[in-house]
Amino acid sequence: MTFELKISVKDDQRYLASDVKQMMIDFLEALGRTDYVEGYIDGVSEELSALEIATATTTEERMSTAPVVLFDDRRDTLVNLAEVMKNQFADCLSFAISEISDESWQSCWNPDFVPLQTQKFFIVPLGHGMSTPVGLERVEIDAGNGAFGTGQHATTRAVIQVLEKRIKDWQPSSVLDVGTGTGIYLILAGKLGLSKLIGTEISDDLVSLASSNCQMCGVDATVLRSEEIQFEFQFDLIIANILVPVLHGLMPQMASHLKPKGALVLAGFVEKEEGALLRLAASYGLDLEMTAQETGWRVLVLRKMSMNG
Ligand SMILES: C[S@@+](CC[C@H](N)C(=O)[O-])C[C@H]1O[C@@H](n2cnc3c(N)ncnc32)[C@H](O)[C@@H]1O
Repeated sequence: MTFELKISVKDDQRYLASDVKQMMIDFLEALGRTDYVEGYIDGVSEELSALEIATATTTEERMSTAPVVLFDDRRDTLVNLAEVMKNQFADCLSFAISEISDESWQSCWNPDFVPLQTQKFFIVPLGHGMSTPVGLERVEIDAGNGAFGTGQHATTRAVIQVLEKRIKDWQPSSVLDVGTGTGIYLILAGKLGLSKLIGTEISDDLVSLASSNCQMCGVDATVLRSEEIQFEFQFDLIIANILVPVLHGLMPQMASHLKPKGALVLAGFVEKEEGALLRLAASYGLDLEMTAQETGWRVLVLRKMSMNG
């Protein structure tokens, strides 16, 4: 069970919301709570104007007034934190604590999918009218019933940025995308020149959706329905943007399906969850190569350098 504390800056002419937000973040960090997330799971789109959506404004701009959210498995920890913040910030902030069921956490991918502009690609919902910025490759994706969207969009964006930056150095010839959703990483990997592309999903609908998205984008990929990773061969690159308990559970399988020197890209968690994941990964011979983050959501790149994986 996870609880969410959403802290918003009240609309008030006396001060700039972005300044109050920055003071709140400084205060939280001084308290040692560096695991906050800017924007909340399915609420970021509320902060976007039509113009921002149309121009795919940068995350920094979007986030300047978006709420700050903390997650904790103890409600009373969040209640106490809200009390401390109330005292410190008088009437500038409003607080809401809610419970996030495992199901809603898992299905929080909001269907309101806004264009995503990366270094090389302009990823838009199928049939979106907006023209493609010069120099970018357009990728149209059927977002289905919320398999990819604005809230957790930040994690997807961060993973894509890592792939764009690092894939040339890794030169992988095979990719496994665990929990492929719409198939977005398979499509981009195909467009970046990779050829052996396999995705897995626990949802039958998403297996169909990812397969048809890949086909529509001219990418030859295989998407399988599976909760486990069971192959007789190993991959150069494995990507998994999933809930932390799932990442923990799949770690042994991911490690054993990674070729020596292969890269494992993990996402879907915040800073406070990272230490345990890193320790588990290290016990399977996976060393940290780099980290990245987008509005509080972290990405780990691990390499299989030792022989005990
Ligand atoms: C957060 S979404 C990621 C979607 C997409 N890869 C992205 O990053 O935008 C996680 C996906 O993992 C799938 N999933 C959850 N547990 C899984 C498992 N054990 N094996 C395969 N897929 C799983 C869910 O159905 C969901 O589509």
